[in-house]
Amino acid sequence: MSDVYEASADARSSAFLRSLSEYQALYERSLQDPQELWGELAKQFHWQTPSTGPFMQSNLNPALGRVSVTCMAGATTNVCYNLLDHNISENRLGDKVAIYWEGNCLGDSRKLTYQQLLNDTCRMSNVLTNQGVKKGDRVAVYMPMIPELVITLLACSRIGAVHSVVFAGFSADSLAERIMDAQCCLLVTADGFFRGEKMINLKQIADDALDRCREREKGSKGFSEPKCIVVRHLGVAPGGPGVPNRPYTPAKRPCPNLQTPWQDGRDLWWHEVMHKAHEEAPPVWCDSEDPLFILYTSGSTGKPKGMVHTQAGYLLHTAVSHRLVFDLRPSDVYWCTADIGWITGHSYLVYGPLANGATCLLFEGIPTYPEVDRFWQIIDKYQVTLFYTAPTAIRSLMKHGNEPVLRHSRHSLRVLGSVGEPINPEAWHWYHRVIGGGRCPIVDTYWQTETGGFLLAPMPFATPLKPGSATFPFFGVVPAILNEHGEEMKGEAEGYLVFKQAWPGMARTIYGDHRRYEETYFQKFPGFYFTGDGCRRDSDGYYWVTGRVDDLLNMSGHLLSTAEVEAALGAHPAVVEAATVSCPHSLKGQTLYCFVTLQAGHTFSRTLVAELRQKGKIMRRILRKIASGDPDFGDVTTLADPCVPSALFADRCRTT
Ligand code: WTA
Repeated sequence: MSDVYEASADARSSAFLRSLSEYQALYERSLQDPQELWGELAKQFHWQTPSTGPFMQSNLNPALGRVSVTCMAGATTNVCYNLLDHNISENRLGDKVAIYWEGNCLGDSRKLTYQQLLNDTCRMSNVLTNQGVKKGDRVAVYMPMIPELVITLLACSRIGAVHSVVFAGFSADSLAERIMDAQCCLLVTADGFFRGEKMINLKQIADDALDRCREREKGSKGFSEPKCIVVRHLGVAPGGPGVPNRPYTPAKRPCPNLQTPWQDGRDLWWHEVMHKAHEEAPPVWCDSEDPLFILYTSGSTGKPKGMVHTQAGYLLHTAVSHRLVFDLRPSDVYWCTADIGWITGHSYLVYGPLANGATCLLFEGIPTYPEVDRFWQIIDKYQVTLFYTAPTAIRSLMKHGNEPVLRHSRHSLRVLGSVGEPINPEAWHWYHRVIGGGRCPIVDTYWQTETGGFLLAPMPFATPLKPGSATFPFFGVVPAILNEHGEEMKGEAEGYLVFKQAWPGMARTIYGDHRRYEETYFQKFPGFYFTGDGCRRDSDGYYWVTGRVDDLLNMSGHLLSTAEVEAALGAHPAVVEAATVSCPHSLKGQTLYCFVTLQAGHTFSRTLVAELRQKGKIMRRILRKIASGDPDFGDVTTLADPCVPSALFADRCRTT
């Protein structure tokens, strides 16, 4: 094939892995002697007690008993301790910047060193403990992209509590459903935030969610309303609130007179409780398989699945894959644009990079505010070297042409990454040629909320790249392509993408529903992990993920279930029946077509379409998801053809 990109000899010379054969040799080693390779890699971290068993033990066949995966059995550790204390004491990173925070508004920024992050995290650990949160308890997190979000996650990890982050674009219903599913005892949120010019009164939505929890759980035993800790982010006076001895830089963001609803006795201001808390907190040692967090992802029945990730394997997988796939150097400035509300933000903005002692950029805003060159302006401002984003963002910026990009130098960039959906060749070439100036390899990383970390990804300076292919498996990962009968197809083939053996970072269960975990991922092809994706392997052995083969669809890099959308539409009084299918879309990858049959007496009108669009949490959620990629997507749904008897509810972008 002609469309193959190889790094220059110069660029290769200083990389971790310099040739395809080096990658292949290491890959073979990872399969033949996982103990030896991972054992070596695990030395990067602190283990309070060592592992007593083989590196991995698993059963992926429900017919042979309970599906289970264990990594480093018997080991105890603390993930937060490894990210902060260990990096500070062993690697002397105390004064290194851990987080550059860039706010939504120009000029609004903060930075935290590893030492400062540790101090704040310890305070927050004490706050949680003072509120009665113990090891194993669940904490819901509903926050904008601010440093307090990272501090909250790390504080949970420090005391062995299990965080459940809910994307701050989700509705009160979605938040309530997740709080109740995991029986969270505490919610951490913020007063509000801006996305572009739009203000979101987050605490109001959080209160609605807590009201819903109270209504639904009324009378049921054992439910007590979660406490709520609130970061004052918008209502902040210039210069405050800060943490003692370290006032934040004066806020340049607008400080509107925000009405923050408040319930005394339940709600606590972050700065008040932090102020009173000690700056030291011992880590709570956790078993390698204790839960670290829950993160929900769409399920084909409509009910979201709370994927449970654990400690040792997740830490290793995210750290090692981040280091190798981005070819991380100590001086790198790494920017992942994903929101921490998604798995990409968990694994490759918080856990992997901080475990590696990297300097990370945390961006609160959107790519098009105040102008469409914001990403490129930020890259120059912080001299970003490693940049990780989604094809949908690239496509939406590509449509503004090259000029906004060429206003900025981008000479600091070294490696570019892509995640969330297959990247189409046109977007790949623009990303490579215009954004990366033709110098930077693009690592197309294939993985899922369930997989914890990368499963297919190139080594940037070793793997010859083919635009649109996530190339080859990561270490310890064994892909296979099966036909409808579950038979493995060798060589060039197209079929179902499965993985043959367990890997360290995979989710261990669905919270509260292990049966569903077994049914969803291991029933169709017993003995294999089934991804739900289709895939082709070409004659050079490259993998090309072709998209979902189940009834989930991938819109703007986010998964949605058709059943969820149908349920939301069906709840409208005018609707008898709704059927939803996906179809290709030039900007979003896939989009939804909803066919709706109306009750007798109802006619199709623009008003009805508008109502259906607004219907229920799901439709709002879709709009928010689109909005979070690019605000131009705000009003995307129009009636395609009002004359067709089975009314067509088409989702189209105005610009196509
Ligand atoms: C899709 C996101 C092709 C795929 C990390 C998968 C991709 C789903 C890629 C998981 C890629 C993700 N190439 N398809 N590089 N990355 N996908 O759980 O369909 O939000 O099953 O995790 O996104 O989405 P999730």
